Amino acid sequence: MKFFIDTANLEDIKKAHDLGILDGVTTNPSLVAKEGIDFKERLKEITSLVSGSVSAEVIALEADAMIEEGKELAAVAPNVTVKVPMTVEGLKAVKVFKELGIETNVTLIFSSVQALLAARAGATYVSPFLGRVDDIGGNGLDLVEEIADIFATHDIDTQIIAASVRHPVHVTESAKRGADIATIPYKVIEQLAAHPLTDQGIEKFLADWEKVTNQKG
Ligand code: E4P
Repeated sequence: MKFFIDTANLEDIKKAHDLGILDGVTTNPSLVAKEGIDFKERLKEITSLVSGSVSAEVIALEADAMIEEGKELAAVAPNVTVKVPMTVEGLKAVKVFKELGIETNVTLIFSSVQALLAARAGATYVSPFLGRVDDIGGNGLDLVEEIADIFATHDIDTQIIAASVRHPVHVTESAKRGADIATIPYKVIEQLAAHPLTDQGIEKFLADWEKVTNQKG
């Protein structure tokens, strides 16, 4: 499973990039709004730093307008993936983007049949929102597994991005249940790297080292 970062914050993207684990970036209108920046400028900055897929979401709701907006976003850099909401209009737009050779990420997926429709329309990626499914009493990880099973059964090569990831267990379980990618906030990436036994181990190694060094000195 690959790692994307889910943010429009350049500092967080740089920090994840420096770890050598970053395969791509996803943004959404809320994440962009939080930064209070010009989105196209930020998209240029992100795509010049990260060579993998960078998802940029359309705001339009009608297919024709989505297509125009998506073409403009895709023109920013060759690694821009146009993010399209999972609606009937969105599916129409995905079909056209596929014909134009523009990658798409169909977002706001909450059922496996939505994922199947998006894949059949030609989506490069589908993004089931785990955390938001959990928020309403569902099981986001079961959704990922169901999509992965259906895609495997029908030999579908659309990639599954586990999105709306809130904690490390979402990441481990997404990997086990067949997600191709998890898109993760930087805070959770840091949590993934941490383990109390690692910290204790380092402390003990240093304490033992110091004992010997002090004896010699
Ligand atoms: C994915 O592409 C979305 O940007 C994101 O994961 C949404 O997560 P949230 O439910 O934490 O807003």
